[in-house]
Amino acid sequence: MRIEQPGVGPTASELERKPVVLTLKAVHVSLGPAAQVEALRQITLSIQAGERVALVGPNGCGKSTLLRALHGLLPIASGERQVPRASRIAMLFQRPHMLRMSVRRNLQLGLWLSGVPWGQTRERAHQALARVDLLHLAERNGRALSGGQQQRVALARAWALQPDVWLLDEPTASLDPHAKRDVEALIADFSDEVPAPHRLPPTLVFASHNLGQVKRLASRVIYLEQGQLLADLPVNHFFNHAFLEAHCPQAHLFVKGETQ
Ligand SMILES: Nc1ncnc2c1ncn2[C@@H]1O[C@H](COP(=O)(O)OP(=O)(O)OP(=O)(O)O)[C@@H](O)[C@H]1O
Ligand SMILES: [Mg+2]
Repeated sequence: MRIEQPGVGPTASELERKPVVLTLKAVHVSLGPAAQVEALRQITLSIQAGERVALVGPNGCGKSTLLRALHGLLPIASGERQVPRASRIAMLFQRPHMLRMSVRRNLQLGLWLSGVPWGQTRERAHQALARVDLLHLAERNGRALSGGQQQRVALARAWALQPDVWLLDEPTASLDPHAKRDVEALIADFSDEVPAPHRLPPTLVFASHNLGQVKRLASRVIYLEQGQLLADLPVNHFFNHAFLEAHCPQAHLFVKGETQ
């Protein structure tokens, strides 16, 4: 049962009213030249506006594939993907792709490709770089930045488009501890941003191997193994050892192994 306290997070009735932004129904994805790898099997889930969903599980379990399926970047062999409202979806990959041009141009191009008139892109690129505290690097070559800086530029590039849904694939995996903290703080900041009028609160879906990060960022955890969704739990249930052991022994073993 949920106890309602005024001023402490959304109430149960507010949560119930949150619209669904993405749904997968019995989705099956096969990969490889002869579609011989069953990367996702019978995945059913719904994500509501404002949720922060972590995807966890061993290497090769299907986290990246699930993010791509949520984005609509992959052909679905069977099942259905539903996007009930016109949401803007941004996807960030583990290693950001920078073009060999200035950071500012990288952002301008992203905006322009998304339909923003070129004349407005410079100002918006500057705003976005200021938002991630990288305005001083605007004229540097995007390829010449450190991994952490590139990831922040990639976040700025996505933020400039004001997405409703952020899909992040191990956004801090290749970063040093300092850059990791920086990027994680930005992600937390972006997902806390107050939406513009008539817009939904930002929704976050991210894959992570870092269970500390999952605890800090997620409100809900989805556990995958061999393309199957084995657990889908509120974060406090997922990290309750006794509950997880009873509910999903495979996920419990995984968490135990990662925290040993
Ligand atoms: N292009 C591809 N062709 C064939 N098989 C693929 C392809 N991409 C991924 N796979 C396979 O699909 C499965 C799921 O891969 P995916 O990359 O989604 O896993 P993951 O959970 O993101 O792993 P990691 O933790 O290593 O990032 C794996 O068995 C992988 O080998
Ligand atoms: Mg992956």
